[in-house]
Amino acid sequence: MQKPDDSCNQAGSVVNVQDLSIYYRRNHQWRNVVDRVSFDIKQGETLCLLGESGSGKSSIALAIARLAQHARVSGQVIIHNQSVYDLEETALRQLRRRHISFIFQNPEAALLPHRTIGQQLLDVICFRTGDDRKAGVLRAKDLLQQVGLAEQEVWSQYPHQLSGGMCQRVLLVMALCIHPRLVIADEPTSSVDAITQSKILSLLLDLQDHFQFAMLFITHDLTVAAVVADAIGVVKTGALLELQSTQELFNQPRTDYSRQLISAAQTLARTVR
Ligand SMILES: Nc1ncnc2c1ncn2[C@@H]1O[C@H](COP(=O)(O)OP(=O)(O)O)[C@@H](O)[C@H]1O
Ligand SMILES: [Mg+2]
Repeated sequence: MQKPDDSCNQAGSVVNVQDLSIYYRRNHQWRNVVDRVSFDIKQGETLCLLGESGSGKSSIALAIARLAQHARVSGQVIIHNQSVYDLEETALRQLRRRHISFIFQNPEAALLPHRTIGQQLLDVICFRTGDDRKAGVLRAKDLLQQVGLAEQEVWSQYPHQLSGGMCQRVLLVMALCIHPRLVIADEPTSSVDAITQSKILSLLLDLQDHFQFAMLFITHDLTVAAVVADAIGVVKTGALLELQSTQELFNQPRTDYSRQLISAAQTLARTVR
């Protein structure tokens, strides 16, 4: 399988976010939900945004690709050397289609119920890569193998006939068909059981090793963050409280909130044992 080329900016950064603020309108007023968040993710690295529900994680993920709906956004996002908020519509769509892939929480809901997996894979692959159907079939089969799915088991099936873990693997094929620069995974394993979660996470890390994409991984679960992330950004009520390498965060958390998160995870681990 082909590996992506190495073009990214001079500092090796695939995505650079500077002072990102997001406002939504409620009761005729703009309400600030994300406040001057900045970070950088390099090729092959994973930054995890860790925070409780409602803290603004998904808004950040969407705003990076200029997909936050009915929002006012300020700050700067550079992806693959392009300033996302300065792009005209066609260039923006091209950037999303060719370089950014999302993986969401509920894999079954992301697939169309009335089309077979094979049909949907081909639709997405041909649209995103420009392959004709013959090349698309070859690419799909190759990628299905990479994510550990037997083509004959899934190709003619409908989404409801597959498990949540299998659906998530199908979505991984759709996400990876373009060899993305950036994968944005928003709580990708929150709706699957613990065994499936660990298999999907280790698959994701293997695939990152191979494809060398930068990953923004979103979770509320510190143990998941510890497994996947090179660096962790702790988000609370729209602010990035701290951003450190995973190891540093565990060894020397800088905020009380991070200390509480670590201590709660340790207490849970002890209780469960
Ligand atoms: N499209 C929207 N319009 C208005 N408010 C929104 C919208 N999307 C999210 N919010 C609000 O913004 C805040 C952050 O939400 P979100 O980014 O989904 O947080 P998280 O992903 O951390 O759970 C929440 O208070 C949520 O209700
Ligand atoms: Mg969310």
